[in-house]
This record gives sequence, C-alpha cells and structure tokens, in this order.
Amino acid sequence: MDRIRIRGGHPLHGAIRICGAKNAALPLMAASLLTDQTLTLTNLPHVADISTMAYLLAEVGVGIHMNGHAPGGGASGRVFELTADRVTDAMAPYDLVRKMRASVLVMGPLVARYGHARVSLPGGCAIGTRPVDLHLKALQQLGAEITLAEGYIEANAPKGLKGGNVVFPSVTVGGTENALMAATLADGETVLANAAREPEITDLAHCLVAMGAEIEGIGTGTLRVRGVKALHGAVHHVVPDRIETGTYLTAAAITGGAIELVGGRLDLIEAVVDLMTKAGVAFEPTESGFVARRADSLRGVDCMTEPFPGFPTDMQAQLMALMSIAQGASMVTETIFENRFMHVPELCRMGANINVHGASAIIRGVPRLSGAPVMATDLRASVSLVLAGLAAEGETVVNRVYHLDRGYERFEEKLSACGAEIERIRDD
Ligand code: UD1
Repeated sequence: MDRIRIRGGHPLHGAIRICGAKNAALPLMAASLLTDQTLTLTNLPHVADISTMAYLLAEVGVGIHMNGHAPGGGASGRVFELTADRVTDAMAPYDLVRKMRASVLVMGPLVARYGHARVSLPGGCAIGTRPVDLHLKALQQLGAEITLAEGYIEANAPKGLKGGNVVFPSVTVGGTENALMAATLADGETVLANAAREPEITDLAHCLVAMGAEIEGIGTGTLRVRGVKALHGAVHHVVPDRIETGTYLTAAAITGGAIELVGGRLDLIEAVVDLMTKAGVAFEPTESGFVARRADSLRGVDCMTEPFPGFPTDMQAQLMALMSIAQGASMVTETIFENRFMHVPELCRMGANINVHGASAIIRGVPRLSGAPVMATDLRASVSLVLAGLAAEGETVVNRVYHLDRGYERFEEKLSACGAEIERIRDD
C-alpha cells in the first residue's frame, strides 16, 4: 500500500486549482440512468470514487465515453458521456457497494426507470453504522416495494413509482438524492420535506431540470417534483468541490502561508469561512477564486458540525488538525456521524492534546506538533493527518493512502507546487 511522506514546517504559498466535487459527481453519474439519451458531465474529478461509480454503471450496462478534458479545464476536469440505452442488469453488487457506499445512489434511478433494482446492503463503515433505512422509506413512500434478502435490497415498482409525501425524520444527503432522482419519473407530484440542502443536491437538481425534470424549491428544505414521462440528455458542469477547497485553505492556515484557491467558491463554504476568520485566517476574493492566508496567530474556536449551511462534517477532521496548534482551547462537536474521531489518537501521537467526551472533543492547543508514522481509516481523517504533518517538525509518514486517492486529485502534486515537501512512497 502506498504511503505519503511529509517533511513539515514549510509555509505554503501558491495557487491550487479546485476540482469538480466528487460528492456532486457521484449522484450526477447515477442520474444518467434516468434517460436513454446521453448525459454529458464536465469537470469531473480524477479520483478513485468516480472510477468506482463508472465501473458500477458500466456493469449495469451504461455506455461511458471518456472524453479527456474540458476546454480550459487544465489537467483536471474530465468529461464523461453516459448513455443508459441498453441497461441489462439493474443490480449493484456487494463488491462495489462495499467499496463505496455511494453506489446505493443507483437504486432510486433504477427503480424509477425500470421498475426494479437490486442493490447490496452497504454494511458497516469506518465512520459509524450509516444505515440506508431513510433511502428505503422514501422509495416506499413513492410506491416501491422493498424486500431484503441475502444481503441485498430488492426494490420493485412494476407499474412505476407514484408521487408521494416524504418527510425525512433527519437530514440525509444520499437519501434526498435517491428520492429526488426517483421522483422525477414518478406519476404525479412528490414533496420531499426536511430535504438536505447541500450544494451537491442543488447541483443535482439543476442537472435534472436540464434533463427535463420539473422541480421547485431547489436550494431549500422542501423540494416539489412533478413527475414526467421521460427525461432527456443534457450537458452539465459539476460544481467545485467545497471540501477540497476547505482542505487546501486549511493547509495555508496551518502552515502560516497563503494559497489562492482557483475556482474555489466562498459562497459554498460560508460556515467554514466564518469559523476560520475567528481562528485568524483571512480571505480575499480574486478574479478566479480567492486567497486564504494566515493573518494572525491561530486562536481556538468552538465548532459543531451540522447539515448545510452549517459547518460540514467532512471538514471536522481538518479543523481539528488546525486547532491542535491554535492558542487556547477549542471544542469540536460531531452531530452527523457517530464514531468520526478516528483521527484523534493519531493526532495525539503527533503531540496534539485532545480529549474526546462522547460526541465532543476538547482540543488544547500546543505550540508545535512533531512528525510521526500515522494511519487513518477514512478519507477526511487521512487528509487531516497530512495537514498536521505539513505543520509538524520532522517527518510524518501517512499510511493507507488509498483513502486519499478516493477523493483528492493529484494531491501531492498540488501541495508540492505550493512548497510542501511531500512525496508518495510506492509499494510495488
Ligand atoms: C454524504 C457525503 C459524505 C458526508 C455526508 C454528510 C456523499 C457521497 N457523501 O454521505 O461525504 O459526510 O453526506 O454531509 O455525498 N442516515 C440514516 N439512515 C439513512 C441515511 C443516513 O440513519 O438512510 C444517517 C447517517 O448514518 C448519518 C446521517 O444520517 O448519521 C447523515 O448521513 P447522510 O447525509 O445520508 O450521508 P451520506 O449521504 O451517506
């Protein structure tokens, strides 16, 4: 397994181009199942999760044309043409769902268009149990019959889905996406209440509208969908990745540097910007994005993760790495996922002073971290250890780099272009 070696202590200066959002691209790719015409997606990031979704769709029978790079997209920004005109098998196998939970996003589109879907149950996952019960309840509200057998979810609606009222008891991003996609082809009107409002859902909704769907309330917690008989092809540009943006702005802050996030959008990360400003980070819009710089000595701030527009759980680990070297104490409370503090013992091995009490962690800032061999069990935890390593004295080796490859394109390249001493050690 590849590792990443970092020699910390270099303030990072330069520019980093932000990719299309992985978490927007995954449901967008699944949306190609809703029509027999071609859906063209531009600005797709070059990361492992996108390949996993492409592989799954190809297995189902979707024709995928990879068209290199979009004009002006630079080295990233891939273009996929997806055509679901000869789907043979409405099924997502265990091997792929186990690798990537977002595979369950094919369920809504498959049952809506073909009246049948068979998707493996995802099972446990490193950041908590993460059930899919709310996805299933929503599809049941739309008339799908759900059965569970041999580790698989069977969703059936032989006469098609029917519009219905779905009230999510708690906010779920994937559940909202599955239900939204399914509702576009249901007979009649669907109301999704307490829907997630993440920018990735807004992006999906805009793409569905471009495909002929009728959706009102985009960007709000109540989505109204009037089902149509069929959707058609469209061309859609994937929204920039707000978590990649937040990660690299934290790299500038933790090393005492300044980085321009090219293509980064401040309006997608307002909660992060507010908190980071209090912590001593300054932001300045530029023509193509914005610059984040450490303006002041870092101060501890309290934070609670929340659904959008609150502070994203996917930035919690990165914030904690930053708070490890801030003056004073911080309290970080995780409200979205249980068991999302696996980075804490690893940060402590690098000299951080963090105590976890239930869903909250108290971080008492230390003057400096020291490099160490570390390892993490999920994507954002891994990246928080790299951030800590960039600020630490000496050498840090982060193991299990495949987690990073799931969600960060050209990761070491982007950081080393800003002056980081970082390299991948390949395990051949
Ligand atoms: C998505 C993101 C992930 C992010 C998360 C929260 C993708 C591919 N992944 O994950 O990066 O961290 O949103 O912003 O977009 N839950 C249930 N039952 C369900 C569904 C969810 O109890 O049927 C719970 C989950 O266990 C979790 C909470 O609801 O505690 C939120 O999960 P959800 O918003 O669904 O996250 P994902 O869509 O899996």
